[in-house]
Amino acid sequence: MDYKVSIIGAGMTGSTTAHWLADKEIADIVLVDIVEGMPQGKALDLLEAMPVIGKDVNIIGGNEYQITSDSDIVVITAGLPRKPGMSRDDLLAANAQIIREATQNAIRYSPEAIFVVLTNPLDVMAYLTMKVAGIPAQRVVGQAGILDSARMRAFVAMELGVSVENVHCYVLGGHGDEMVPLTRQSNVAGVPLNEILPADRLAAIVERTRKGGGEIVSLLKTGSAFYAPAIAVAQMVEAILKDKHLIVPAAAYLNGEYGMQGIFFGVPVQLGRTGVEKIIEYQLTDEEMAAFSKSAQGVKENIAKLNL
Ligand code: APR
Repeated sequence: MDYKVSIIGAGMTGSTTAHWLADKEIADIVLVDIVEGMPQGKALDLLEAMPVIGKDVNIIGGNEYQITSDSDIVVITAGLPRKPGMSRDDLLAANAQIIREATQNAIRYSPEAIFVVLTNPLDVMAYLTMKVAGIPAQRVVGQAGILDSARMRAFVAMELGVSVENVHCYVLGGHGDEMVPLTRQSNVAGVPLNEILPADRLAAIVERTRKGGGEIVSLLKTGSAFYAPAIAVAQMVEAILKDKHLIVPAAAYLNGEYGMQGIFFGVPVQLGRTGVEKIIEYQLTDEEMAAFSKSAQGVKENIAKLNL
C-alpha cells in the first residue's frame, strides 16, 4: 500500500487499532512490542484474516524498530493501563519512561512521521512525545476527545432512543476526570442537548462521561478500554492519510489558543496530511472557560512532574 503505519505497543489498544485500520485498508501496518513473539503472532493472525474480508493489507510484527522504517504515522500505545482505583495520573512515571524509549526509537527510523499518541496520562504523554522527538507540534496529536465524545454520544443516544448518528457531542479539555463536556455545543439533530434533556439527566450523562474510562476499568478489573479508544485512533489516522481536513476533538499543542500556552489539551482540531492543520477556537462562556482552566491546571502540574 502507499502508506505505512507503525503501532508501538501491541497490547489491547495497539492490536485493536491494527484491526480497525486493517479493515479500513488504508495502510500497511507494523506492530512493535517488547514482548517477544507477541507482536509477530498478532500480526500474522490479523494478516491471515485479510483474505476473508478481502483487504490487501500487509501486516508485520516485531521487537526491533528497524521494521518501522519510513512510517507515515507512528501510533504510540505502549505503556501500562490503569487498574481499578487508579487514576490516569497514577501512570505518569512508569509510562513517561516507556514513551521516551518508544519515541526515541521510532523517530530515528521515521524522521518525517506524524505521531498519534494514546498512552495515558494522554495530554502529558503527547507533550513528552513532541519534546523527545524534537519535531514541530503540528506533527503530534493525542487521542482522547473522539473517545470521550463518543462515550457521551452513546449515553445520549441510549437515553433518548435515537440513532448515535444523530447525536453530536464535544468533550474537550484534559483527558481526566476534569474533562469538559460542552453541553451547549452538543446537540441531537441540531437541537441543543439542554432543550431535549431534563437538567438532572443531562448532569448524570456528563458525570458518566467524565468517569467513562473508570467505569470500564472497574468492570474489566484487568486493563482498560480498548475498542473505542482504538477506533478513535483509527479515525484520526484515516483523516491524516486521506487529507480529510476533518475536525475532531483531540489533544493538540496550544500556543495561545484558548488563552493557554505550552500544553497539550483537548480542543477541536482540523486533521490533514500535515497533521494538526488548525485549532478551532469556540467562543466559551465564563463558566466553560473556568472549567477549561481547572482541567488545564491538572495537565500543567503533570507536565511539571516530567522535569524536562
Ligand atoms: N516498548 C514497546 N512496547 C511496550 C513497552 C516499550 N518500552 N513497554 C510496554 N510495552 C507494551 C506492553 O508489552 C503491552 O503489550 O505496551 C503494551 C500495552 O498494552 P496493554 O497492557 O494491553 O495496555 P493497553 O490497554 O493497550 O493500554 C496502553 O493506552 O489507553 C492507554 O491507558 C492506556 O496507557 C495505556 C495505554
